[in-house]
Amino acid sequence: MIIGIPKEIMPSEARVSATPETVKKFVADGATVLVEKNAGIGSFFSNDAYKEAGATIIDSAKEVFEKSDIILKVKEPQFNKEFNTHEVELMHSGQYLVTFIHPASPANHEMVRALAKKGVISLTLDGVPRISRAQSMDALTSMSTCAGYKGILIAANALPKFMPQMFTAVGTIQPSKVLVVGVGVGGLQALATAKRLGAITYAADIRPDAMEHAKSLGAKVIDLEIPAELAIAEGGYAKNLPKEWLVKEREKLDEILPEMDIVFLSALVPGKVAPILITEDMVKRMKHGAVIVDISIDQGGNCEITPPGTTEEKHGVTICGIKNIPGLLPTSSTHMFAQNVYNFVKNITKDGEIVLDRSDEIVSSSLVTFQNEIVHAGTREAMNI
Ligand code: NAI
Repeated sequence: MIIGIPKEIMPSEARVSATPETVKKFVADGATVLVEKNAGIGSFFSNDAYKEAGATIIDSAKEVFEKSDIILKVKEPQFNKEFNTHEVELMHSGQYLVTFIHPASPANHEMVRALAKKGVISLTLDGVPRISRAQSMDALTSMSTCAGYKGILIAANALPKFMPQMFTAVGTIQPSKVLVVGVGVGGLQALATAKRLGAITYAADIRPDAMEHAKSLGAKVIDLEIPAELAIAEGGYAKNLPKEWLVKEREKLDEILPEMDIVFLSALVPGKVAPILITEDMVKRMKHGAVIVDISIDQGGNCEITPPGTTEEKHGVTICGIKNIPGLLPTSSTHMFAQNVYNFVKNITKDGEIVLDRSDEIVSSSLVTFQNEIVHAGTREAMNI
């Protein structure tokens, strides 16, 4: 099995899908690993370190894509400016791709169609189910931990005021108020980080369990008054709310938004488009100088006017839709991601070959394209197939 590790090409993406440590393990398992030159530079892993681990360093991305049986990436395939072509075009029929594809997001539909057309067998890491057997492969959890922590630091940096309460010669400075909407893995880490920085924290989620966790981190809980049976699906996951309840949720949030200095958005139903919880009108009613960090942007965003992939000021509010926040914490995030990917590949490999067992829950829920078809349920729903 030949494993290809291309350099990530999304602007400012510093992560890479393998570390010298995981390369060493792949090689020990019998694989050949091709690492594109300088792929690890952003995460502070040198070409020499990969070579020492047993990888072959390849000069061009084209060659890595051409020669590999399986491509491991961090971000979904992108347009490659150097070759003036899309990364999907560099792939071939029957080749495997393991990465975050975020296939339900409308922005990625065209790319997913192209993967199917090419005959690429693509598996998305955001499809890994949150079951105990898959914990060590759960890159979304790892990256959400990074995004929760770093996302709050980004917000604090963009905020034109102090986070903690301060007693100064000119009087007491009031602490900032931080609201986290969607208190899953990312949201919890955001709450904990904001609290450490001295903010007053508020939390909103539709799952009672999530609210209990938020409370235990010292957050004030916003009661969205959504009946549990509407909010929780099998396995304890959140469900997409019916439209009228989504409207009610927005009304509830609208009551407190004007008080908030930072709003951290991380609400998501796995495999679905992110629910719009903040409309443009709601942003207009927020404080000037407030900051929104919308980490659900890969699935479309929780705020109607989040700029995908960048930060902009709109109606006096700084809105951050940076897509690769964990990439801003590259050593920690690459370390976690590469371990998750190694464990994921191990699960689909038998005697050094890839064996796709579609009855395995981990495979079935992460498989996006197979034999020229889009097979991922959430994507099919989002595409109306
Ligand atoms: P998670 O599944 O652990 O948490 C999502 C939470 O949203 C759950 O607690 C769920 O109950 C809640 N939720 C669902 N619908 C809701 C609604 N209508 N109102 C309020 N809460 C609702 O997800 P996780 O791992 O924390 O990820 C959150 C988001 O962050 C995802 O969209 C993920 O893709 C994204 N992410 C973004 C990164 C970036 O760099 N921008 C990096 C890592 C993750």
